[in-house]
Amino acid sequence: MQPISLTGIKPTGNPHIGNYFGMFRPAISLTEKYLGMYFVADYHALTSLHDPAELRELVYEVTASWLALGLDPKKSIFFRQSDIPEIPEFTWILSCFTAKGLLNRAHAYKAAIDKNVELGRDPDDGINAGLFYYPVLMAADILLYGSDVVPVGLDQRQHIEITRDIAEALNRTYGTLLKLPEGVIQENVQSIPGIDGQKMSKSYNNTIPLFAEDKLVRKQVMRIVTDSKSPKDPKDPDGCNLYNIYKFFAPQDRLEDVRQRYIQGGLAYGDLKKELADLILNYFKEARIKYNELMADRGYLDAVLADGAQRVRAIAQPILKKTRQAIGIE
Ligand code: TRP
Repeated sequence: MQPISLTGIKPTGNPHIGNYFGMFRPAISLTEKYLGMYFVADYHALTSLHDPAELRELVYEVTASWLALGLDPKKSIFFRQSDIPEIPEFTWILSCFTAKGLLNRAHAYKAAIDKNVELGRDPDDGINAGLFYYPVLMAADILLYGSDVVPVGLDQRQHIEITRDIAEALNRTYGTLLKLPEGVIQENVQSIPGIDGQKMSKSYNNTIPLFAEDKLVRKQVMRIVTDSKSPKDPKDPDGCNLYNIYKFFAPQDRLEDVRQRYIQGGLAYGDLKKELADLILNYFKEARIKYNELMADRGYLDAVLADGAQRVRAIAQPILKKTRQAIGIE
């Protein structure tokens, strides 16, 4: 069998062009060499999302986004975490090999505690046990399928380390049982600035959305922050976030031309923004059409998820069985 590349995607809405270059594109390109196993981490979302209609809708949006951007559900496996009943069972088993102190030190939980302390509240105020258990569930996601590589952002590095610690604890007890995964930390993938020049992120409200209406995409591009130099002034392309976004989309010769006009003067930011908006809409043209088609065909999305679940369970079951036998419950 091909080695496995696996990652979980928390269902959040409105993917943006930063996600495309930082997550979708690298993960999809891994599917050329690896069996891509990508899933919607809806159980993880449940630690903070308690609106059923929203959760249901977000699962569709995430699924449609991955398929629209080029993930081939025949060559890869796309599925929903909660469709895999082996996951909660495996999570419990792993938790019995997870040092509680390890979870106490997990960043997300620790940050929530620290915030409460800072505000003079009880340290556990408003924190559910799901948040505390989050890393164990994630270890189950990774270890249940014998994943080889896990492409994730820098913020997930600690979770991969915890996963390896847990796998090692079982292997120490029962002999080699679980495969230790490697994190592929995507810190060097091209990172695209947001419209305000910070890292593009939903939490900074500085994104250019992938699948919003044309009008909104254009509006966000027109809002890209620049300095107030007039068209005739010479400008520094590398220090300009308009240029730094533009360069992801412009053809090479055009980019060279624009660069010269920055340096020599003669470039109007407004014109370049209009050109950039056209380039972005054109770059994602097919994906945007496909996304809308997919969102209008929920039956197809359900079928993709059902097929993914069936195929991934076939990979999970022998690993769970081996684990059950090793621990002595089968
Ligand atoms: N915790 C990851 C995030 O917040 C999502 C995730 C859940 C995940 N399970 C996973 C990522 C397994 C990689 C592998 O982004």
